[in-house]
Amino acid sequence: MKKNVIAGNWKMHKTNREALRLVTRLMKLMEKHPPRKTEVVVCPPFTALAPVAELLKGSAIRLGAQNIFWEEEGAFTGEVAARMVRGAGARYVIIGHSERRRYFKEDESVINKKIQLALKNKLQVIHCVGETLEERRHNLTQDIIINQLEWGLKGLTGDDFKKVVIAYEPVWAIGTGKTATPEQAQEVHAFIREILNTLYGNQVGSRITIVYGGSVKPENAAGLLSQPDVNRALVGGACLDARSFFKIIQASETT
Ligand code: 13P
Repeated sequence: MKKNVIAGNWKMHKTNREALRLVTRLMKLMEKHPPRKTEVVVCPPFTALAPVAELLKGSAIRLGAQNIFWEEEGAFTGEVAARMVRGAGARYVIIGHSERRRYFKEDESVINKKIQLALKNKLQVIHCVGETLEERRHNLTQDIIINQLEWGLKGLTGDDFKKVVIAYEPVWAIGTGKTATPEQAQEVHAFIREILNTLYGNQVGSRITIVYGGSVKPENAAGLLSQPDVNRALVGGACLDARSFFKIIQASETT
């Protein structure tokens, strides 16, 4: 069912010591103002999952990983399995982030395998979709989104969709300081719902949580998060500072 989610994607930042400091600060801020209608998720690098999980015991903050490998286990030097991140305490995993598509050449079939495996291992999926600037300029936004939703989520059942959050992250807005306008975000989010209803039926699109990502900051959060189809945000840069991440959580609570 639809819920409000504010997730922080730390990307390749923070040692374990820094991670624990950041989460400790965040927990202190949230203690004074516990969110009532927002699920907060932190996604540190693999190395920090277990220590952060330990720190989060008894807290309402959820833990997520940023990636998993597409096979269950085996001779895949350097890779990390879904079962391992689940065992380390993660309950969510980000899949299909544009940085992985771009630098690691992940395509829809790889993304689909990872999503299936994540669900099998009881991880909730944050599935990222979004167009590049070039694609937007050529009016291809809708085609790109349809393709990503059709092939990335292929074979999922109605029950599976209860464990999936879609993150609309226009690639041109990630780390660039150029955020989508609230209207641009709303337009694509509404489109994503429509397509999911068409592709998967049973009101999948109407019921799914769709978050926005791309240069979300305390200053622009309220405008974006107040859009009817924006069920909050996947935050990059601004989640590396406890106070600014907390301000975004507060914007989610008050809009
Ligand atoms: P920024 O908020 O730094 O633009 O990153 C967004 C993002 O990629 C979240 O996954």
